[in-house]
Amino acid sequence: MKHDTIAVIDFGGQYAHLIATKVRKLRVLAEIRQPDDPIEAFRECKGIIISGSPSFSAFGEDSHYTKEIYQLPIPILGFCFGHQEIAKYYGGRVIHGGQEWGHTELHITAASALLEGLDPVETVWMSHFDSVVEVGPGFEETGYSRLGERGTVHRYAAIASEELRRYGFQFHAEVDDTIHGGIMIANFVLKICGCMPSWTMENYVDEQVQAIRERVGGESVFLLASGGVDSTVAARLLDRALGADRLQLLHIDNGLMRKDESAEVLRRFGEMGLSSNLHFVDASEDFLGALAGIVEPETKRRRIGDTFIQVFEREARRLGIEAHLLGQGTIYPDTIETGGTKRADVIKTHHNRVPVIQAMIAQGRVVEPLAELYKTEVRELGILLGLEHDLVWRHPFPGPGLGVRLLCSDGAGDGLDTASLESAVEPLVGPLGLEGRVLPIRSVGVKADLRSYEHPVMLSGSRPWAELVEAAGQIFREVQGVNRCVWNLSDTRPSRFSLLPAAVTRARLDLLREADHMVMAGLRRHRVYEEIWQCPICLLPLSIDGAGRELVVIRPVYSERAMTAAAAPLPEALIGELRRSILELEGVSGVCLDLTSKPPGTIEWE
Ligand code: XMP
Repeated sequence: MKHDTIAVIDFGGQYAHLIATKVRKLRVLAEIRQPDDPIEAFRECKGIIISGSPSFSAFGEDSHYTKEIYQLPIPILGFCFGHQEIAKYYGGRVIHGGQEWGHTELHITAASALLEGLDPVETVWMSHFDSVVEVGPGFEETGYSRLGERGTVHRYAAIASEELRRYGFQFHAEVDDTIHGGIMIANFVLKICGCMPSWTMENYVDEQVQAIRERVGGESVFLLASGGVDSTVAARLLDRALGADRLQLLHIDNGLMRKDESAEVLRRFGEMGLSSNLHFVDASEDFLGALAGIVEPETKRRRIGDTFIQVFEREARRLGIEAHLLGQGTIYPDTIETGGTKRADVIKTHHNRVPVIQAMIAQGRVVEPLAELYKTEVRELGILLGLEHDLVWRHPFPGPGLGVRLLCSDGAGDGLDTASLESAVEPLVGPLGLEGRVLPIRSVGVKADLRSYEHPVMLSGSRPWAELVEAAGQIFREVQGVNRCVWNLSDTRPSRFSLLPAAVTRARLDLLREADHMVMAGLRRHRVYEEIWQCPICLLPLSIDGAGRELVVIRPVYSERAMTAAAAPLPEALIGELRRSILELEGVSGVCLDLTSKPPGTIEWE
């Protein structure tokens, strides 16, 4: 079945993905396109949405993208940067100025198919420097924006040419802060473009079963089953298409899994009726051996990735299935290049796209049945395929597992002058009764799309959560060299930290597993597990006031697609329970909550 499709031109990763998700919620297929994709990539679509952009300006230099789209006889809608581009292309004028940030009000001034069903004044969300100040022939202003009765009027907040079927919104209709953004997008997709809502999960299952059978032909598939949501849903779908005879599953215990994880995975696959073709290998010795004495984060990642491939190849040979196609649970955002956010700097290497796998993809040896889905859709599909609720709602867990949550050190540190950083932090937190100490260890972060590897600040003292997060934000804005802030949960105010030499060992992993287990159980007990996107627990080899033991960091975050994140508050009672139980663990001398948003921190510490 061919679905009506909306192309979303990606000038800014998260904006484009959010637009695509909103269109798909209407049961219409939305696909991300890059600005320089050839015109053929747009011809079959029923409509185009041009996304906003964090870094492109419609003012000044000409923007490069496939402008032949304007010759196509299909409707086009632009948000923010896209709106300015449409105005400019058809003879309007854009200036650098007239910026608006956050909520404002859209006053609708002319009827337009796009604005049907809306109130005369709507709350919308803005984030722009440049503005449209004139429209070309055939276009009219359909709304202006103004914040409050006395606010400045910003003209051309919404523009339209009903004849050309070209539309623009200066605001972001895709974000929830634009209260009726959903109605606006539905008007465009369903009424103006006339799309049929046929993109349903039931159809997806039927189509994928068919597609997998055609793709695999008479061959068989070998899938690495980590036990996470994506690989389990992929296994279920492949099983439905191919049957147990032509699907082999391998679960590798790399020693970097959560407490009792492998036993749980085997139990789950058993319940799904997939145990006859599930193979299990305890390769923890291989992984711990490869990681012995290694402390540098990217080297650890590479060693873990290389060991996966070695174990995988060895087991495939042992099972006599090395000629099988490789199945992967890769999802949509991982398969596409994000043009607007193309990263010159590799922040982290994604394990589904390492060179060996890329080579297999080029040879047509990889099957990825979830490659068109977002995470929320994978979960919907999981439910439809009858997977347990708890499995479907599990937090994402990184391929390298606890390996990237167990920070290591050679014990020498980097000779940072912590005193001067601390004196820059003091005026920002002292007035709040907080004390800020710089930790002599570094963690990964992301600033302006580049990787940063900087020091965290530990805040001690008692303040409401919102104030702590605000203080952290101020530190990031004003103090160079800090990309993370944590809040000390213990009663003491530490005065001296020293780095301990520490690498990846079974004993440290066991300690981390225990702390992780306590937090996960606590999140479930307090019924906050599902609202939190992910909650890494990290172990830092830091001795506090000479105690010679380690520091635990709890990192709960809210997020939609992990590209950005906000630190998530935990219930008071849970914080109290975790403080007590984690501090009682032998080998732990401190426990903190991470206050850092992404950016400037990443979700994981390494
Ligand atoms: P960061 O730490 O970059 O993580 O904010 C974003 C999301 O990606 C996950 N992550 C990984 N997943 N292999 C994976 O499969 C990896 O190497 C890896 N590194 C980070 C992370 O848990 C979060 O969900």
